[in-house]
Amino acid sequence: MIKLIPEPYRYSLDAGTVNLMKGFSISFPEIWKDEIDDFMDFAHKLSLRSEKVSLNEINVIADETVEYEGYYIKISDNRISVRASSKTGCFYAMQSLKQLTLAYSMRIPCFTIEDKPRFSFRAFMLDVGRYFYSVSDVKKFIDLIALHKLNFLHLHLTEDQGWRVEIKKYPFLTQKSSKRSHTNFNARPHGGFYTQDDVKEIVAYAHKKHIKVIPEIDMPGHMQAALHAYPELGCFARKLPVATHWGIKHDILCGGKDEVLAFVKDVIDEITELFPDGLIHIGGDEAPKTRWQICPRCQAKIKELGLKNENELQGHFLSEVGKYISSKGYTAIMWNEDEISGKSNSDIIWMAWNVPKENHANILNEMKNGRYVINGLSEPNYLDLPYAQNTLERIYSESADFIEKNDRMIGLEAFLWTEFVPNMDNAFFKTFPRLGAFAEKAWSEEKKLDYKTFLEKIPSYEELLKMHGVTRFASVKRANPSKLLGFFEKLWWERRQLCWHGLHNLVDNAKVKKKYSEKKKKDKDR
Ligand code: ACM
Ligand code: ZN
Repeated sequence: MIKLIPEPYRYSLDAGTVNLMKGFSISFPEIWKDEIDDFMDFAHKLSLRSEKVSLNEINVIADETVEYEGYYIKISDNRISVRASSKTGCFYAMQSLKQLTLAYSMRIPCFTIEDKPRFSFRAFMLDVGRYFYSVSDVKKFIDLIALHKLNFLHLHLTEDQGWRVEIKKYPFLTQKSSKRSHTNFNARPHGGFYTQDDVKEIVAYAHKKHIKVIPEIDMPGHMQAALHAYPELGCFARKLPVATHWGIKHDILCGGKDEVLAFVKDVIDEITELFPDGLIHIGGDEAPKTRWQICPRCQAKIKELGLKNENELQGHFLSEVGKYISSKGYTAIMWNEDEISGKSNSDIIWMAWNVPKENHANILNEMKNGRYVINGLSEPNYLDLPYAQNTLERIYSESADFIEKNDRMIGLEAFLWTEFVPNMDNAFFKTFPRLGAFAEKAWSEEKKLDYKTFLEKIPSYEELLKMHGVTRFASVKRANPSKLLGFFEKLWWERRQLCWHGLHNLVDNAKVKKKYSEKKKKDKDR
Protein backbone atom coordinates (compact mmCIF):
# COMPACT_ATOMS: atom_id res chain seq x y z
CA MET A 1 0.00 0.00 0.00
CA ILE A 2 1.13 3.54 -0.74
CA LYS A 3 -0.58 6.34 1.17
CA LEU A 4 -1.55 8.37 -1.88
CA ILE A 5 -5.02 9.45 -3.03
CA PRO A 6 -5.59 9.14 -5.95
CA GLU A 7 -3.81 5.81 -6.31
CA PRO A 8 -0.84 6.13 -8.71
CA TYR A 9 -0.59 4.35 -12.04
CA ARG A 10 2.28 2.14 -10.85
CA TYR A 11 4.70 1.96 -7.91
CA SER A 12 7.25 -0.30 -6.26
CA LEU A 13 8.91 -0.25 -2.85
CA ASP A 14 12.59 -0.72 -1.97
CA ALA A 15 14.26 -0.87 1.43
CA GLY A 16 15.17 2.38 3.20
CA THR A 17 13.70 5.84 3.79
CA VAL A 18 14.48 9.49 3.24
CA ASN A 19 14.21 11.45 6.46
CA LEU A 20 13.18 14.98 5.52
CA MET A 21 13.30 16.03 9.18
CA LYS A 22 17.03 16.33 8.63
CA GLY A 23 16.38 19.06 6.05
CA PHE A 24 16.79 19.01 2.29
CA SER A 25 18.17 20.90 -0.68
CA ILE A 26 16.16 21.19 -3.87
CA SER A 27 17.11 21.87 -7.49
CA PHE A 28 14.66 22.44 -10.35
CA PRO A 29 14.22 24.18 -13.71
CA GLU A 30 13.69 27.88 -12.94
CA ILE A 31 10.46 28.02 -15.02
CA TRP A 32 8.86 25.54 -12.59
CA LYS A 33 9.44 27.76 -9.57
CA ASP A 34 5.72 28.31 -8.83
CA GLU A 35 5.07 24.56 -8.77
CA ILE A 36 8.03 23.99 -6.45
CA ASP A 37 6.95 26.92 -4.23
CA ASP A 38 3.67 25.11 -3.62
CA PHE A 39 5.67 22.27 -2.08
CA MET A 40 8.00 24.65 -0.23
CA ASP A 41 5.06 26.44 1.45
CA PHE A 42 3.87 23.05 2.66
CA ALA A 43 7.33 22.05 3.85
CA HIS A 44 7.68 25.29 5.82
CA LYS A 45 4.33 24.64 7.50
CA LEU A 46 5.83 21.36 8.70
CA SER A 47 8.97 23.25 9.84
CA LEU A 48 11.18 21.31 7.41
CA ARG A 49 14.49 23.07 6.76
CA SER A 50 15.52 23.74 3.18
CA GLU A 51 19.22 24.40 2.75
CA LYS A 52 21.65 25.14 -0.08
CA VAL A 53 23.63 22.04 0.76
CA SER A 54 22.02 19.17 2.61
CA LEU A 55 22.30 15.49 3.27
CA ASN A 56 18.99 15.03 1.42
CA GLU A 57 18.58 16.21 -2.16
CA ILE A 58 15.40 16.68 -4.13
CA ASN A 59 16.19 16.85 -7.84
CA VAL A 60 13.46 17.92 -10.23
CA ILE A 61 14.25 17.64 -13.93
CA ALA A 62 12.40 18.16 -17.21
CA ASP A 63 12.09 15.00 -19.29
CA GLU A 64 10.19 15.23 -22.57
CA THR A 65 9.46 11.51 -22.64
CA VAL A 66 7.03 11.78 -19.69
CA GLU A 67 3.32 12.17 -20.56
CA TYR A 68 1.78 15.65 -20.26
CA GLU A 69 0.11 15.38 -16.81
CA GLY A 70 2.26 12.47 -15.66
CA TYR A 71 5.42 12.31 -13.54
CA TYR A 72 8.00 9.95 -12.08
CA ILE A 73 9.30 10.01 -8.53
CA LYS A 74 12.21 7.83 -7.43
CA ILE A 75 13.04 7.88 -3.74
CA SER A 76 16.34 6.35 -2.66
CA ASP A 77 18.58 6.92 0.35
CA ASN A 78 19.10 10.69 0.71
CA ARG A 79 17.73 11.47 -2.74
CA ILE A 80 14.34 12.15 -4.34
CA SER A 81 14.41 12.36 -8.14
CA VAL A 82 11.40 13.82 -9.90
CA ARG A 83 10.82 13.85 -13.65
CA ALA A 84 8.03 15.51 -15.63
CA SER A 85 7.58 17.03 -19.07
CA SER A 86 5.28 19.89 -18.11
CA LYS A 87 4.59 22.35 -15.30
CA THR A 88 1.38 20.43 -14.66
CA GLY A 89 3.22 17.12 -14.33
CA CYS A 90 5.69 18.79 -11.95
CA PHE A 91 2.79 20.23 -9.95
CA TYR A 92 1.18 16.79 -9.59
CA ALA A 93 4.50 15.27 -8.53
CA MET A 94 4.68 17.94 -5.81
CA GLN A 95 1.11 17.17 -4.70
CA SER A 96 2.15 13.54 -4.29
CA LEU A 97 5.33 14.49 -2.47
CA LYS A 98 3.29 16.64 -0.05
CA GLN A 99 0.98 13.72 0.70
CA LEU A 100 3.83 11.28 1.18
CA THR A 101 5.73 13.66 3.46
CA LEU A 102 2.78 14.04 5.80
CA ALA A 103 1.48 10.47 5.55
CA TYR A 104 4.86 8.97 6.50
CA SER A 105 5.68 11.62 9.14
CA MET A 106 8.58 13.04 7.06
CA ARG A 107 10.31 9.64 6.72
CA ILE A 108 9.31 8.59 3.23
CA PRO A 109 9.96 4.97 2.25
CA CYS A 110 11.93 4.38 -0.93
CA PHE A 111 9.09 4.26 -3.43
CA THR A 112 9.45 4.44 -7.18
CA ILE A 113 6.28 5.95 -8.65
CA GLU A 114 5.11 6.25 -12.22
CA ASP A 115 1.88 8.22 -12.48
CA LYS A 116 -0.54 9.61 -15.07
CA PRO A 117 -4.31 10.19 -15.18
CA ARG A 118 -6.93 7.92 -16.68
CA PHE A 119 -9.24 10.78 -17.76
CA SER A 120 -8.23 14.19 -19.11
CA PHE A 121 -11.34 15.86 -17.64
CA ARG A 122 -11.64 15.66 -13.84
CA ALA A 123 -13.97 18.30 -12.45
CA PHE A 124 -15.67 19.60 -9.34
CA MET A 125 -18.68 21.92 -9.40
CA LEU A 126 -19.52 24.41 -6.69
CA ASP A 127 -23.03 25.90 -6.74
CA VAL A 128 -22.42 29.48 -5.66
CA GLY A 129 -25.89 30.47 -6.90
CA ARG A 130 -27.98 29.08 -4.06
CA TYR A 131 -25.47 30.13 -1.44
CA PHE A 132 -22.73 32.60 -2.12
CA TYR A 133 -19.22 31.40 -1.27
CA SER A 134 -16.62 34.15 -0.84
CA VAL A 135 -13.45 34.47 -2.92
CA SER A 136 -11.45 33.07 -0.03
CA ASP A 137 -13.83 30.07 0.29
CA VAL A 138 -13.51 29.38 -3.42
CA LYS A 139 -9.72 29.55 -3.10
CA LYS A 140 -9.87 27.00 -0.27
CA PHE A 141 -11.80 24.68 -2.58
CA ILE A 142 -9.25 25.29 -5.32
CA ASP A 143 -6.42 24.23 -2.99
CA LEU A 144 -8.36 21.11 -2.06
CA ILE A 145 -9.32 20.03 -5.53
CA ALA A 146 -5.73 20.58 -6.70
CA LEU A 147 -4.61 18.25 -3.94
CA HIS A 148 -6.92 15.63 -5.49
CA LYS A 149 -5.36 16.19 -8.94
CA LEU A 150 -8.65 17.46 -10.35
CA ASN A 151 -8.17 19.90 -13.20
CA PHE A 152 -11.48 21.74 -13.74
CA LEU A 153 -13.54 23.93 -11.41
CA HIS A 154 -17.11 24.46 -12.63
CA LEU A 155 -18.75 27.49 -11.02
CA HIS A 156 -22.56 27.45 -11.17
CA LEU A 157 -22.82 31.24 -11.19
CA THR A 158 -26.48 31.98 -11.77
CA GLU A 159 -29.60 30.65 -10.16
CA ASP A 160 -33.20 31.50 -9.28
CA GLN A 161 -31.84 32.38 -5.84
CA GLY A 162 -29.02 34.67 -6.95
CA TRP A 163 -26.89 36.01 -9.78
CA ARG A 164 -23.25 36.02 -8.70
CA VAL A 165 -21.09 37.57 -11.41
CA GLU A 166 -20.76 41.25 -12.29
CA ILE A 167 -21.83 42.03 -15.85
CA LYS A 168 -21.02 45.67 -16.58
CA LYS A 169 -23.66 46.09 -19.28
CA TYR A 170 -26.44 44.90 -16.92
CA PRO A 171 -25.62 46.39 -13.50
CA PHE A 172 -28.93 45.34 -11.92
CA LEU A 173 -27.85 41.67 -12.20
CA THR A 174 -25.62 42.29 -9.22
CA GLN A 175 -27.29 45.36 -7.67
CA LYS A 176 -30.69 43.65 -7.51
CA SER A 177 -30.38 39.97 -8.48
CA SER A 178 -27.62 38.96 -6.07
CA LYS A 179 -29.73 39.21 -2.89
CA ARG A 180 -32.68 37.20 -1.64
CA SER A 181 -34.87 38.33 1.23
CA HIS A 182 -34.55 35.07 3.19
CA THR A 183 -33.45 31.45 2.77
CA ASN A 184 -34.39 27.86 3.53
CA PHE A 185 -32.73 28.18 6.88
CA ASN A 186 -33.75 31.49 8.39
CA ALA A 187 -35.51 34.80 7.87
CA ARG A 188 -32.32 36.74 7.23
CA PRO A 189 -31.40 38.07 3.78
CA HIS A 190 -28.57 36.35 1.92
CA GLY A 191 -26.49 37.62 -0.97
CA GLY A 192 -23.15 38.26 -2.57
CA PHE A 193 -21.45 38.41 -5.92
CA TYR A 194 -18.04 38.39 -7.55
CA THR A 195 -16.85 41.64 -9.09
CA GLN A 196 -14.99 41.23 -12.35
CA ASP A 197 -11.76 41.77 -10.42
CA ASP A 198 -12.78 38.99 -8.00
CA VAL A 199 -13.31 36.66 -10.96
CA LYS A 200 -9.89 37.49 -12.35
CA GLU A 201 -8.38 36.78 -8.93
CA ILE A 202 -10.14 33.39 -8.72
CA VAL A 203 -9.14 32.39 -12.25
CA ALA A 204 -5.51 33.43 -11.73
CA TYR A 205 -5.39 31.48 -8.46
CA ALA A 206 -6.90 28.40 -10.11
CA HIS A 207 -4.37 28.60 -12.95
CA LYS A 208 -1.54 28.62 -10.43
CA LYS A 209 -2.95 25.30 -9.21
CA HIS A 210 -3.32 23.94 -12.76
CA ILE A 211 -7.09 24.16 -12.69
CA LYS A 212 -9.21 25.57 -15.52
CA VAL A 213 -12.42 27.35 -14.63
CA ILE A 214 -15.77 26.70 -16.36
CA PRO A 215 -18.39 29.40 -15.78
CA GLU A 216 -22.04 28.39 -15.98
CA ILE A 217 -24.80 30.77 -16.97
CA ASP A 218 -27.86 28.55 -16.65
CA MET A 219 -30.53 29.28 -19.30
CA PRO A 220 -33.37 29.52 -20.18
CA GLY A 221 -34.48 28.09 -16.80
CA HIS A 222 -33.12 28.86 -13.32
CA MET A 223 -33.24 32.56 -14.29
CA GLN A 224 -35.65 34.02 -11.75
CA ALA A 225 -33.00 36.21 -10.11
CA ALA A 226 -32.22 37.83 -13.48
CA LEU A 227 -35.94 38.22 -14.21
CA HIS A 228 -36.31 40.10 -10.92
CA ALA A 229 -34.00 42.79 -12.28
CA TYR A 230 -34.99 42.56 -15.95
CA PRO A 231 -38.61 41.31 -16.07
CA GLU A 232 -38.89 42.08 -19.79
CA LEU A 233 -36.62 39.07 -20.48
CA GLY A 234 -39.47 36.77 -19.42
CA CYS A 235 -42.56 35.99 -21.47
CA PHE A 236 -44.93 38.31 -19.58
CA ALA A 237 -42.67 40.83 -17.82
CA ARG A 238 -43.98 39.64 -14.44
CA LYS A 239 -42.72 41.30 -11.27
CA LEU A 240 -40.86 38.52 -9.45
CA PRO A 241 -38.71 38.38 -6.33
CA VAL A 242 -35.31 36.71 -6.29
CA ALA A 243 -36.39 33.19 -5.33
CA THR A 244 -36.04 32.42 -1.66
CA HIS A 245 -36.53 28.63 -1.64
CA TRP A 246 -35.64 25.45 -3.41
CA GLY A 247 -37.74 24.21 -6.36
CA ILE A 248 -38.06 24.38 -10.13
CA LYS A 249 -39.39 27.78 -11.14
CA HIS A 250 -41.71 28.26 -14.10
CA ASP A 251 -40.76 31.81 -15.02
CA ILE A 252 -37.86 31.40 -17.44
CA LEU A 253 -36.31 33.46 -20.24
CA CYS A 254 -38.70 33.98 -23.15
CA GLY A 255 -37.76 31.75 -26.06
CA GLY A 256 -39.39 34.00 -28.64
CA LYS A 257 -37.88 37.43 -28.05
CA ASP A 258 -34.83 38.42 -30.06
CA GLU A 259 -33.93 40.78 -27.20
CA VAL A 260 -33.34 37.74 -24.98
CA LEU A 261 -30.76 36.29 -27.35
CA ALA A 262 -29.12 39.73 -27.54
CA PHE A 263 -28.96 39.82 -23.72
CA VAL A 264 -27.42 36.35 -23.56
CA LYS A 265 -24.82 37.27 -26.20
CA ASP A 266 -23.89 40.42 -24.26
CA VAL A 267 -23.43 38.35 -21.11
CA ILE A 268 -21.32 35.80 -22.98
CA ASP A 269 -19.15 38.60 -24.39
CA GLU A 270 -18.19 39.63 -20.85
CA ILE A 271 -17.94 36.05 -19.59
CA THR A 272 -15.46 35.09 -22.32
CA GLU A 273 -13.33 38.08 -21.34
CA LEU A 274 -13.32 36.93 -17.71
CA PHE A 275 -12.94 33.17 -18.17
CA PRO A 276 -10.19 32.41 -20.71
CA ASP A 277 -10.22 28.60 -20.51
CA GLY A 278 -12.35 27.92 -23.57
CA LEU A 279 -15.42 26.29 -22.01
CA ILE A 280 -18.78 27.84 -21.09
CA HIS A 281 -21.65 25.90 -19.54
CA ILE A 282 -25.04 27.15 -20.73
CA GLY A 283 -27.25 25.07 -18.45
CA GLY A 284 -30.41 23.99 -20.23
CA ASP A 285 -31.83 21.94 -17.34
CA GLU A 286 -35.21 22.08 -15.65
CA ALA A 287 -36.95 24.64 -17.84
CA PRO A 288 -40.74 24.07 -17.61
CA LYS A 289 -42.70 25.25 -20.64
CA THR A 290 -45.88 26.48 -18.95
CA ARG A 291 -45.12 30.10 -19.91
CA TRP A 292 -43.90 29.34 -23.42
CA GLN A 293 -47.11 27.43 -24.15
CA ILE A 294 -49.22 30.57 -23.77
CA CYS A 295 -46.69 33.22 -24.79
CA PRO A 296 -47.53 34.84 -28.14
CA ARG A 297 -43.85 35.57 -28.82
CA CYS A 298 -42.76 31.98 -28.15
CA GLN A 299 -45.61 30.58 -30.21
CA ALA A 300 -44.86 32.96 -33.09
CA LYS A 301 -41.21 31.84 -33.01
CA ILE A 302 -42.22 28.17 -33.13
CA LYS A 303 -44.35 28.94 -36.19
CA GLU A 304 -41.74 31.10 -37.88
CA LEU A 305 -39.07 28.40 -37.53
CA GLY A 306 -41.42 25.55 -38.44
CA LEU A 307 -40.73 23.79 -35.12
CA LYS A 308 -42.92 21.08 -33.61
CA ASN A 309 -43.13 22.27 -30.03
CA GLU A 310 -41.62 24.18 -27.10
CA ASN A 311 -38.88 21.58 -26.54
CA GLU A 312 -37.70 22.13 -30.10
CA LEU A 313 -37.73 25.86 -29.41
CA GLN A 314 -35.42 25.32 -26.43
CA GLY A 315 -33.17 23.14 -28.62
CA HIS A 316 -33.08 25.97 -31.16
CA PHE A 317 -32.37 28.60 -28.49
CA LEU A 318 -29.49 26.65 -26.98
CA SER A 319 -28.08 25.84 -30.42
CA GLU A 320 -28.04 29.55 -31.29
CA VAL A 321 -26.20 30.27 -28.05
CA GLY A 322 -23.85 27.35 -28.73
CA LYS A 323 -23.07 28.68 -32.21
CA TYR A 324 -22.29 32.11 -30.77
CA ILE A 325 -19.95 30.53 -28.24
CA SER A 326 -18.24 28.54 -31.02
CA SER A 327 -17.85 31.72 -33.08
CA LYS A 328 -15.76 33.10 -30.22
CA GLY A 329 -13.50 30.04 -30.25
CA TYR A 330 -15.09 28.54 -27.11
CA THR A 331 -16.92 25.24 -26.62
CA ALA A 332 -20.33 25.09 -24.98
CA ILE A 333 -21.41 22.49 -22.45
CA MET A 334 -25.04 21.78 -21.53
CA TRP A 335 -26.88 19.59 -19.06
CA ASN A 336 -28.21 16.57 -20.85
CA GLU A 337 -32.01 16.56 -20.82
CA ASP A 338 -33.15 14.02 -23.28
CA GLU A 339 -36.17 15.83 -24.70
CA ILE A 340 -34.14 18.94 -25.42
CA SER A 341 -30.46 18.15 -25.74
CA GLY A 342 -31.23 15.86 -28.67
CA LYS A 343 -32.17 18.98 -30.57
CA SER A 344 -28.90 20.79 -29.95
CA ASN A 345 -25.79 21.24 -32.10
CA SER A 346 -23.49 18.24 -32.07
CA ASP A 347 -20.50 20.35 -31.02
CA ILE A 348 -22.09 21.14 -27.63
CA ILE A 349 -20.65 18.82 -24.98
CA TRP A 350 -23.27 17.01 -22.95
CA MET A 351 -22.98 16.83 -19.21
CA ALA A 352 -25.09 13.76 -18.48
CA TRP A 353 -26.70 14.19 -15.05
CA ASN A 354 -30.08 12.50 -15.19
CA VAL A 355 -30.34 9.74 -17.76
CA PRO A 356 -33.01 7.10 -17.28
CA LYS A 357 -31.99 3.65 -18.50
CA GLU A 358 -34.26 3.85 -21.54
CA ASN A 359 -32.25 6.83 -22.77
CA HIS A 360 -28.80 5.31 -22.43
CA ALA A 361 -28.88 4.29 -26.09
CA ASN A 362 -29.28 7.94 -27.12
CA ILE A 363 -26.13 8.92 -25.30
CA LEU A 364 -24.21 6.03 -26.83
CA ASN A 365 -25.44 6.99 -30.29
CA GLU A 366 -24.43 10.60 -29.81
CA MET A 367 -20.95 9.53 -28.72
CA LYS A 368 -20.71 7.25 -31.74
CA ASN A 369 -21.67 10.24 -33.90
CA GLY A 370 -18.84 12.25 -32.37
CA ARG A 371 -20.37 14.19 -29.50
CA TYR A 372 -18.28 14.53 -26.34
CA VAL A 373 -19.95 13.56 -23.07
CA ILE A 374 -19.03 14.09 -19.41
CA ASN A 375 -20.21 11.56 -16.86
CA GLY A 376 -21.91 13.70 -14.24
CA LEU A 377 -24.68 11.31 -13.30
CA SER A 378 -26.40 12.57 -10.16
CA GLU A 379 -26.04 9.09 -8.73
CA PRO A 380 -23.32 8.69 -7.63
CA ASN A 381 -21.70 12.08 -8.40
CA TYR A 382 -23.90 14.57 -6.47
CA LEU A 383 -22.12 15.16 -3.19
CA ASP A 384 -25.02 17.08 -1.65
CA LEU A 385 -27.25 13.99 -1.71
CA PRO A 386 -27.52 12.05 1.55
CA TYR A 387 -24.65 9.72 2.37
CA ALA A 388 -27.32 7.01 2.49
CA GLN A 389 -27.92 7.57 -1.24
CA ASN A 390 -24.45 8.29 -2.57
CA THR A 391 -22.42 6.31 -0.07
CA LEU A 392 -18.64 6.47 -0.04
CA GLU A 393 -18.52 2.88 -1.20
CA ARG A 394 -20.97 3.52 -4.03
CA ILE A 395 -19.00 6.50 -5.35
CA TYR A 396 -15.84 4.44 -5.23
CA SER A 397 -17.28 1.30 -6.75
CA GLU A 398 -19.65 2.41 -9.49
CA SER A 399 -18.02 2.30 -12.91
CA ALA A 400 -16.52 5.55 -14.15
CA ASP A 401 -17.56 4.71 -17.68
CA PHE A 402 -20.83 5.97 -18.97
CA ILE A 403 -22.65 2.71 -19.75
CA GLU A 404 -19.69 1.38 -21.67
CA LYS A 405 -16.16 2.48 -22.52
CA ASN A 406 -16.02 5.13 -25.22
CA ASP A 407 -13.27 7.60 -25.99
CA ARG A 408 -15.85 10.36 -26.46
CA MET A 409 -16.52 10.13 -22.71
CA ILE A 410 -13.91 12.66 -21.71
CA GLY A 411 -14.17 12.38 -17.96
CA LEU A 412 -16.03 12.77 -14.71
CA GLU A 413 -17.48 15.53 -12.60
CA ALA A 414 -18.56 15.68 -8.95
CA PHE A 415 -21.07 18.31 -7.85
CA LEU A 416 -21.83 20.20 -4.68
CA TRP A 417 -25.29 21.75 -5.05
CA THR A 418 -25.96 24.13 -2.20
CA GLU A 419 -29.72 24.48 -1.74
CA PHE A 420 -29.17 22.96 1.69
CA VAL A 421 -25.48 23.73 2.15
CA PRO A 422 -25.31 27.20 3.72
CA ASN A 423 -21.68 27.32 4.86
CA MET A 424 -18.19 25.86 4.47
CA ASP A 425 -18.48 23.61 7.50
CA ASN A 426 -21.48 21.90 5.95
CA ALA A 427 -19.86 21.93 2.51
CA PHE A 428 -16.79 20.13 3.89
CA PHE A 429 -18.92 17.52 5.66
CA LYS A 430 -20.74 16.68 2.41
CA THR A 431 -17.63 16.76 0.24
CA PHE A 432 -15.15 14.76 2.32
CA PRO A 433 -14.24 11.94 2.18
CA ARG A 434 -16.45 11.46 -0.89
CA LEU A 435 -14.25 13.67 -3.07
CA GLY A 436 -11.31 11.34 -2.34
CA ALA A 437 -13.25 8.37 -3.70
CA PHE A 438 -14.36 10.40 -6.70
CA ALA A 439 -10.84 11.64 -7.45
CA GLU A 440 -9.41 8.15 -7.33
CA LYS A 441 -11.99 6.99 -9.86
CA ALA A 442 -11.29 9.96 -12.15
CA TRP A 443 -7.48 9.64 -12.01
CA SER A 444 -6.60 5.99 -11.42
CA GLU A 445 -6.80 3.05 -13.79
CA GLU A 446 -9.86 0.90 -13.22
CA LYS A 447 -7.75 -2.13 -12.35
CA LYS A 448 -5.99 -0.14 -9.62
CA LEU A 449 -9.20 0.66 -7.77
CA ASP A 450 -9.49 -1.25 -4.54
CA TYR A 451 -11.98 -0.03 -1.94
CA LYS A 452 -10.32 -1.80 0.99
CA THR A 453 -6.96 -0.21 0.22
CA PHE A 454 -8.70 3.15 -0.20
CA LEU A 455 -10.16 2.82 3.30
CA GLU A 456 -6.71 2.09 4.72
CA LYS A 457 -5.52 5.40 3.29
CA ILE A 458 -8.31 7.43 4.92
CA PRO A 459 -6.57 8.31 8.23
CA SER A 460 -3.61 9.99 6.51
CA TYR A 461 -5.98 11.56 3.97
CA GLU A 462 -7.93 13.11 6.85
CA GLU A 463 -4.70 14.57 8.32
CA LEU A 464 -3.86 16.07 4.93
CA LEU A 465 -7.28 17.69 4.63
CA LYS A 466 -7.11 19.06 8.17
CA MET A 467 -3.84 20.69 7.30
CA HIS A 468 -5.62 22.34 4.35
CA GLY A 469 -8.34 23.87 6.51
CA VAL A 470 -11.02 21.18 6.28
CA THR A 471 -12.97 21.63 9.51
CA ARG A 472 -15.42 18.75 9.13
CA PHE A 473 -15.11 15.35 7.60
CA ALA A 474 -17.58 12.43 7.64
CA SER A 475 -16.19 9.28 9.21
CA VAL A 476 -16.19 6.14 7.06
CA LYS A 477 -19.04 4.83 9.19
CA ARG A 478 -21.05 8.01 8.69
CA ALA A 479 -20.28 7.99 4.98
CA ASN A 480 -21.68 4.45 4.66
CA PRO A 481 -24.57 4.76 7.09
CA SER A 482 -26.44 1.83 8.61
CA LYS A 483 -29.95 1.13 7.29
CA LEU A 484 -31.48 2.85 10.30
CA LEU A 485 -29.32 5.97 10.15
CA GLY A 486 -29.74 6.03 6.36
CA PHE A 487 -33.52 5.92 6.72
CA PHE A 488 -33.53 8.95 9.00
CA GLU A 489 -30.96 10.77 6.90
CA LYS A 490 -33.10 10.37 3.79
CA LEU A 491 -36.24 11.33 5.70
CA TRP A 492 -34.51 14.51 6.92
CA TRP A 493 -33.33 15.28 3.40
CA GLU A 494 -36.81 14.86 1.96
CA ARG A 495 -38.10 17.61 4.25
CA ARG A 496 -37.21 19.79 1.27
CA GLN A 497 -40.35 18.40 -0.44
CA LEU A 498 -42.39 20.06 2.30
CA CYS A 499 -41.34 23.44 0.98
CA TRP A 500 -44.36 24.76 -0.81
CA HIS A 501 -42.88 25.23 -4.30
CA GLY A 502 -45.08 22.50 -5.81
CA LEU A 503 -48.26 24.07 -4.54
CA HIS A 504 -46.97 27.54 -5.32
CA ASN A 505 -46.21 26.56 -8.93
CA LEU A 506 -49.70 25.10 -9.30
CA VAL A 507 -51.42 28.22 -8.02
CA ASP A 508 -49.07 30.56 -9.87
CA ASN A 509 -49.51 28.69 -13.15
CA ALA A 510 -53.28 28.95 -12.86
CA LYS A 511 -52.96 32.70 -12.23
CA VAL A 512 -50.65 33.23 -15.19
CA LYS A 513 -52.83 31.14 -17.45
CA LYS A 514 -55.95 33.01 -16.45
CA LYS A 515 -54.41 36.44 -16.80
CA TYR A 516 -52.51 35.97 -20.04
CA SER A 517 -54.87 33.59 -21.80
CA GLU A 518 -57.65 36.10 -21.17
CA LYS A 519 -55.52 38.82 -22.64
CA LYS A 520 -54.76 36.70 -25.63
CA LYS A 521 -58.45 36.08 -26.12
CA LYS A 522 -59.26 39.80 -25.82
CA ASP A 523 -56.52 40.66 -28.32
CA LYS A 524 -58.01 38.11 -30.70
CA ASP A 525 -61.56 39.43 -30.26
CA ARG A 526 -60.48 42.98 -30.91
C1 ACM B 1 -29.40 19.65 -12.24
O1 ACM B 1 -29.19 18.95 -11.25
N1 ACM B 1 -30.52 20.34 -12.35
C2 ACM B 1 -28.45 19.71 -13.32
ZN1 ZN C 1 -42.10 33.69 -24.46
